[in-house]
This record gives sequence, structure tokens and C-alpha cells, in this order.
Amino acid sequence: MFLTEEQELLQQMVRDFAQNELKPRAAKFDQQETIDKDVLDQMAELGLFGIPFPEEYNGVEMDTMCYSIAVEELSRVCASTGITVAAHISLGTYPIYMFGTEEQKQKYLPKLCSGEELASFGLTEPNAGSDAGGTQTTAVKDGKEWVLNGAKMFITNGGWAWTSINTAMTDKDKGVKGISAFIVERDAPGFSVGKKIRKMGIRGSNTTELIFENCRIPEENLLGKLNEGFKQFMQILDGGRISIGAMALGIAQGALDEAIRYSKERNQFGKPIASNQAIQFMLADMATEIEAARHLVYNASRLKDAGKSYSKQSAMCKLYAGEVATRTCIKAIQIHGGYGYTQEYPVERMLRDAKVTEIGEGTSEIQRIVIARSLLSD
Ligand code: CAA
Repeated sequence: MFLTEEQELLQQMVRDFAQNELKPRAAKFDQQETIDKDVLDQMAELGLFGIPFPEEYNGVEMDTMCYSIAVEELSRVCASTGITVAAHISLGTYPIYMFGTEEQKQKYLPKLCSGEELASFGLTEPNAGSDAGGTQTTAVKDGKEWVLNGAKMFITNGGWAWTSINTAMTDKDKGVKGISAFIVERDAPGFSVGKKIRKMGIRGSNTTELIFENCRIPEENLLGKLNEGFKQFMQILDGGRISIGAMALGIAQGALDEAIRYSKERNQFGKPIASNQAIQFMLADMATEIEAARHLVYNASRLKDAGKSYSKQSAMCKLYAGEVATRTCIKAIQIHGGYGYTQEYPVERMLRDAKVTEIGEGTSEIQRIVIARSLLSD
């Protein structure tokens, strides 16, 4: 697919890093349920935590396409690493870049864009998942401080993050129009990281609860306008969904890579299984669906870069790429036969990793709601 010279260079750099540094350790990250710190440090060194942000904040100042390509290449061999970058950039850092005051940007962005510190995003709660407007966390003004009470659930980078951007109800009577967003630093009094959540896939990534017990933050940590947090977070999710589409695309491509390699190496009945039309047709279908998913992900990225509306297209690319990733991994396991069902080959991990792309940052059902609403309101 056509890429600019800058996008091709970035793609090659991330591909080399992923092949050399991540591929040998991806299974270990899955088993130990964490990513080695030196890998995160190397990624910070390469600028991977600040790809789409301006140089004045220590970003790399590249476009959304470059960001999507980077997440795709990382996820092709290690989806845990891909989601760590995606959650940091799209969910944890973008809200400050998009809605922050210049003081907030100067305070937080340089360390976040350089990767010296990580960021997270607290929207989901134990009782508010797909119904993101049902947030029960509250924020009450007390003098020059906000006091937060409640809990957040399934927060990527939760235990690693310096800052989390959280929604809380500031005016209960107004429903979704009474929700605001706040920046909470990890050492804020009354803030704690709850239990680490053990997951089916993306096990190397860090997923936790966040707990607010009379958590006090300065009044200037309100992010954006009072009571506009819900709309802000919906806009953030529009961007984040492109990165989950890119992650799903990368996992699917990685599973196809493994299936092609294995089908050429594995001999049965005196010949490589790749010489069987049954295998060839599976590979052809996998590659075709992946190409279609790539078009959707890159198209949404390019629309965002062009400043056009992309809410429907980001939902479409996440929906389609997520479902393709799961289907592709299942076929890759089938091609591997019994070995595909073991931990000796990466395709079983890839299937476990793929499933979350149909759930996180809005389930496939929520994407269908977003797409259908857009169709019916045009
Ligand atoms: N951009 C701007 N504004 C938007 C918007 C968007 N994309 N989507 C909605 N809005 C606005 C609407 O226009 C409306 O404002 P007005 O009344 O002024 O027009 C307001 O927001 C409320 O919108 P809805 O009536 O559509 O709200 P709803 O309650 O029906 O919810 C929803 C819509 C699409 C279902 C939404 O709740 C949703 O996306 N849910 C899924 C949440 C989700 O993806 N959660 C995963 C988060 S990831 C996480 O937290 C963990 C992690 O670390 C990965």
C-alpha cells in the first residue's frame, strides 16, 4: 500500500526493533505478565511514546498514519507492547494535548511524549462499561481542591502511569452533561492503584483498577471545561479506536506471517502442507481480509490527518480489523494443527491477544451503534 518516504522509514525502524527486540521475548512477556522495563526504555529512546505530538513537547511530530503503522508493527509480534503504546498515546496523553491549558501541557506533555513517564485513561468503571455515561465516580469542589470518590476498572497502564485522566460526575442532575475530566497524579492523596487484573490475552500489558478515596487534587487539574468530560472522552475514543484497529491489523498480519512460514516448513504426505489447495485458500482469504482491514485503518488515519470527520470510519476500522484478527488467528491455529494449540508456537497467544480488540475501547456492538447512528443521521 502506498506510503510516503517518512512513513516507510518509520515502518522499517519499528519493524526492525520489533523483530530484533520484541519477537524473542514476546512469549516471556505473556508468561511473566509484564513487559521488561528495558524494552519500554528502548521504545522511549526511539520516540515511540510521542509519535504524533509536536517537538516543542518532546514529541516526534509525525502523523496519525505513522502512529498507526508503529502500533501495527509492534502488535505484529507483541500485542502487549502495542496496546501499551496505544493506551499511552491515544488515551492517556491526547486528552491533555487536545483539551489542556498551556500550563497543563507544559507540565505534563514533555515527560509523557519522551516516554520518561507513562499515562493512563480512566473511563470504565465496575458498573459503567459500554454505558460510559453511567459513571458513578464523583468529584466535589472543596475550596481550591476537587475531591474524588469512586473506582475505575480495566485501566491499561494503570500501575505504570504517572498521570491518569479520569471522568467523574460533577453534576448528577445533568446526566452525561454533568461529567467532567480530571488529571490525577499517582502521588495524589487518596489515590491508589487497585488490584492488577489477570487477563486472557495481552498479558504483558499492565491492567489495574484505580481507586479514589477522598482523593484531593488541585482545582487546576480539571481538564477542559466543567461538565464537558463526556464529549471530550467520546472524541478521544474516536482517535483511540483507530489505534486498536491498527493493533488488530498487526496481530492478524503476525498470525498470517506465522501461518505462511509453518505451511512451507511442515511436511505431511511427503510434501509441504502449503502445496495443498485447502491451505492455500485459507491463506488467500486471510491475506485478502487483512488487506481490507489495512485499507480501513489507513483511511481512518488519513482522514484524521486531513482534519476531516472520522468517527464512523474509526468505528468501522476497529470493528472490522478486530473481527478479522480473531478469524485470522483461528485459521492460523488450524493450519498449525496440533502444534498451533500449544505454547510452542505463537499463534495461540495471538488468538488470546486478538480477542480484546473486539472488546476494549468499545465492544464490536458499540462500534455498530456508532456506525448505525452516523448512517441514520446523515
Ligand atoms: N464526538 C463528539 N461528541 C460526541 C460523540 C463523539 N464521537 N459521541 C457522542 N457525543 C456527544 C453527543 O453529541 C451528545 O451531545 P449532545 O446531546 O450535545 O448532542 C453527548 O455526547 C451524549 O451522546 P449520546 O447521547 O450518543 O450518548 P450515549 O449515552 O447514548 O452513549 C455511546 C453513546 C456511543 C454508546 C458511548 O457511551 C460509548 O462509546 N460507549 C462505549 C465506551 C467505551 O468505548 N469504553 C471503553 C473505554 S477504554 C477504557 O476505559 C480502558 C482502557 O484503559 C483501555
